[in-house]
Amino acid sequence: MILFDAADNFFYIHTENTTYAMAIRQSDKSLMHLYWGRRLEGKIDTEIMNNMDGVYIYEPPFEYSTYGTPDMRIPSLDALTDDGTRVVKLTFKEYSISSGKPQLKGLPATYSEEKDNVQTLEITLTDEVQNIDVILRYTSFYDYDAIARNAEIINHGKKLHLNSVMSATVDFYNMPKSDFITLDGAWTRERMVTRRQVTSGNQNIESRMGGSGHMHNPFIAVCGKDALENRGDVFGFSLVYSGSFTAGIELNHYNSGRAYIGINPFHFDWILENGESFQSPEAVLVYSADGFGGMSRIFHRLYRERLCRGKYRDAERPIVINNWEATYFNFNEEKILNIAKKAAEIGVDVMVLDDGWFGKRDSDNCSLGDWYEDRNKLPDGLKALAEKINALGLGFGLWFEPEMVSPDSELYRAHPDWKLCASGREGTLKRNQYILDLSRREVCEYIYNSVSSVLRRVNIKYVKWDMNRFMTEVGSALLPPERQGEVMHRYMLGLYGILDRIVTEFPHILFESCAGGGGRFDPGMLYYMPQTWVSDDTDAKERLYIQHGTSMVYPYSAMGCHVSSCPNHQIGRTTPFEMRCNVALPGQFGFELDLNKCNDKELELAKAAVEKHRALQNVFHFGDCYRLISPLTDDIAVTEFVSQDKNTVIVSINSIKPTSNILPQFIKLEALERNAVYKNAETGKTYIGEYLMNIGIQFKNNREHGTSVSVFYKE
Ligand code: DGJ
Repeated sequence: MILFDAADNFFYIHTENTTYAMAIRQSDKSLMHLYWGRRLEGKIDTEIMNNMDGVYIYEPPFEYSTYGTPDMRIPSLDALTDDGTRVVKLTFKEYSISSGKPQLKGLPATYSEEKDNVQTLEITLTDEVQNIDVILRYTSFYDYDAIARNAEIINHGKKLHLNSVMSATVDFYNMPKSDFITLDGAWTRERMVTRRQVTSGNQNIESRMGGSGHMHNPFIAVCGKDALENRGDVFGFSLVYSGSFTAGIELNHYNSGRAYIGINPFHFDWILENGESFQSPEAVLVYSADGFGGMSRIFHRLYRERLCRGKYRDAERPIVINNWEATYFNFNEEKILNIAKKAAEIGVDVMVLDDGWFGKRDSDNCSLGDWYEDRNKLPDGLKALAEKINALGLGFGLWFEPEMVSPDSELYRAHPDWKLCASGREGTLKRNQYILDLSRREVCEYIYNSVSSVLRRVNIKYVKWDMNRFMTEVGSALLPPERQGEVMHRYMLGLYGILDRIVTEFPHILFESCAGGGGRFDPGMLYYMPQTWVSDDTDAKERLYIQHGTSMVYPYSAMGCHVSSCPNHQIGRTTPFEMRCNVALPGQFGFELDLNKCNDKELELAKAAVEKHRALQNVFHFGDCYRLISPLTDDIAVTEFVSQDKNTVIVSINSIKPTSNILPQFIKLEALERNAVYKNAETGKTYIGEYLMNIGIQFKNNREHGTSVSVFYKE
């Protein structure tokens, strides 16, 4: 699976359908990138090395590039050395191949289990002048067709300033005309798919905000001009990190492209003393010859099985009702119990109490940091509320925003220096709050203690961990001036440390992350919390776009999707109740409204949706997902889900814009058995696989707001 060909000095990392290759250049022992793409069964001809020394007079395809060689492109590693220069030259030192995958200390990462077909290659490069070692790790998830990478810098010499440490760079030499795919957006409009042509120079997306952010997701793909949903070459890069990141592709004057992904070098200055090491976050690389759909299915499977952890990785997830859009801050115990009562009647599992239960928080202008209940709203306290909800047959869930502090809070009055802020500055308030300085141990300790004491005291089954502002005026009161460039990453390490302690201590709790909707929907958070609130935009039709983009990388099992009331609170549109249910159905299903305000028909639909989700959750979450028609290119969104045993097929169709006086549309299904018989569960009608794949099922888009979720069982 991972091989070193000592005759040619070539490394081969194979997965079932892909190969990634590197070479040790004999002239100077540099490590060169050779190939990544479709699986090669044979050897690569050594002739390929001619190009490495010859044609590439400048900018050869180094596997992990530095400044100080003829390569002037964005480097993998940029370090200011003790002699005041940035010159680092890395040559091959040694390698090892082992089975399994070592853990990344203090960072989220994919993992292997004992039975897995997984191997890790460690290549150590060295700079003998500066006395630096760089360990490049490559893990082949053979059966998943994915490669996980990271880099560790070890300083055996004099003090270094690390100014950029990419998790992965990959060169595409002789790059044909290609496209660059990113997931971009804003609050309530997250992860819209953008496709643009790779042109000369650097095209980049990034976050400088200390969180992965709403604006760009830590993911890029490079693909052929002809790549489509179900065919063509696609190379995906995903960063397992929740902080400021950078990702892009630089096309040079030789038409050679370099893709890169890692921590954002902006305001990054990590001091590495003698004997210290720095570990980069992990990047996951996925190549698919089967277009975007092929790439997505690989990410989905890897992330739900070998990134998400804990009981809820495999267990059925509860259906929740959340009071946020039903009450906002304006609730008392009675209101919450009334919502829970109605939810119990239709079979909901967990009542989640959102923002407003603590301190004296009647609006968003106070109390963050004071994690004890507001006795005015909840006179009997949280424990009693949880018991009353339990008595209705529901579990109890609770919202926290532990990384924040309001200026009007007991916490801030006691520790004004705990806010993350450059010294001598007041700091900008966002949503009336500051962010806490998680680079400080005592702040992390406070967060851990205040959250865990509530989780110990109250019978809580579910936690929504929110984060509603990003970093400005970054600085830490404890670190010396020369270490201020470490703050943003230290914050992430602090956060990951807290999350690790909490999820380990409370394995029975299902954690959902959130950041003003989907502002931190990234693989880093998924390692600790297996689901994320997709967006604060709960309009069903807007959600079709957002869920479509999110599914480029993330499985539906990771997407929190709720039915909300109409007119929609974010965009004012009214969408039929059935469509609202159908759009939320494939995700982590739930409600975000007061069911007491629904009419009988709506309650009936809600109950039916609860039953349908429960019956089909397994297929939505653990099956394969095929985006048959994109809402971005058509007026309908169609997604097919095929169960792991291939016996159940679900087709979810939602019309964004019905068209009058038009013939029915035929929707061709994918991944069925040609000769098998499939029975429509609702109509009882049977079809042959080849009919469904070549002719398809009919959908009439001429009705107002057409929506359907059809189930087919293989006979
Ligand atoms: C932002 C979240 O995305 C919402 O769902 C809600 O929890 C609010 N924060 C509460 O302040």
